[in-house]
Amino acid sequence: MILDNFAVLEGCDGSGTTTQLELLSRRFAGIPGLFYATAEPTRGPVGELIRRLLKEEGRPKESGVSGETRVSPETLARLFAADRAEHLYGSGGIVERCSVRGELVVSDRYSPSSLVYQAIDCGEELSRILNESFPLPELLVYIDIDGETAEKRIAGRPDREIFEHLEFQEKVRKGYLKLLPAWEKSGVRVLTVDGSRSPEEVAEGVWRAVAEMPIVKKAI
Ligand code: TYD
Repeated sequence: MILDNFAVLEGCDGSGTTTQLELLSRRFAGIPGLFYATAEPTRGPVGELIRRLLKEEGRPKESGVSGETRVSPETLARLFAADRAEHLYGSGGIVERCSVRGELVVSDRYSPSSLVYQAIDCGEELSRILNESFPLPELLVYIDIDGETAEKRIAGRPDREIFEHLEFQEKVRKGYLKLLPAWEKSGVRVLTVDGSRSPEEVAEGVWRAVAEMPIVKKAI
C-alpha cells in the first residue's frame, strides 16, 4: 500500500540525507502546518536504544564491523522494525499526520534502510518479513554517493557507528541500486540524485521531486 503525502530520503552514511531534510524544511517555512520532518532511528525509546547499540564507543578495538553489536544483528533488525511501527502508528505518527491531518511527512530514512542495511547482516528474508506490512511512501529520493565518498565523509565523525566503514558502505550502495527498481515497480515514485554535488545542487533536485507531490502542488 502506498501512503500518500509521505516521502523518504535514503542513501549511504554520509550521503547528506539529514542536511537535505533541513534544507527542505526551509522551503516550507512560509506554509505553517503543512510540513513535518522526521527521522529513523526515531527519538522515541526504541530509537534511542538503537542509537546506543550502534555506537562503536566502548567496544574492543577490533570491533566496528557489522555483526558485532551487543545484540545480534537479527535483534537489531527487529528493533528497527519496532521503532518504525511506533513511528508510523503511534499517536502523532506518520499515518495520522499524512492521512488524518493532511500533512506532508518527509522522513530521513525509513524501511529501505532496513531492506538494505539489515539485509547485509541478516539476509533479505528477515528484513523483508519484518517490513512487508509497512506502507510504501509516495516518493523515495535516493541520494547516491559511492563507497569511497561515504568513507571520506564519515572519516571525520567523532562517534563512529558500526556501519560506517568502506566495505560495508559499498554493499549498502549495491543494495540500494538493487532495491530501487523493485520499489518503482510497486508504484513508488523513485528519484536518484547525484550526492557528490554541492548540498545546494542536491537540494534543487530534492525540491523538484517534492514539488511534484499533489499535496505540495495544491499548497504552493
Ligand atoms: P543515521 O541516519 O545515520 O542516523 P544519525 O545521523 O542520527 O546517526 O542512521 C543511523 C544508522 O542506522 C545508519 O548507519 C543507517 C542505519 N539504519 C539501519 O541499519 N536500518 C534502519 O532501518 C535505519 C532506519 C537505519
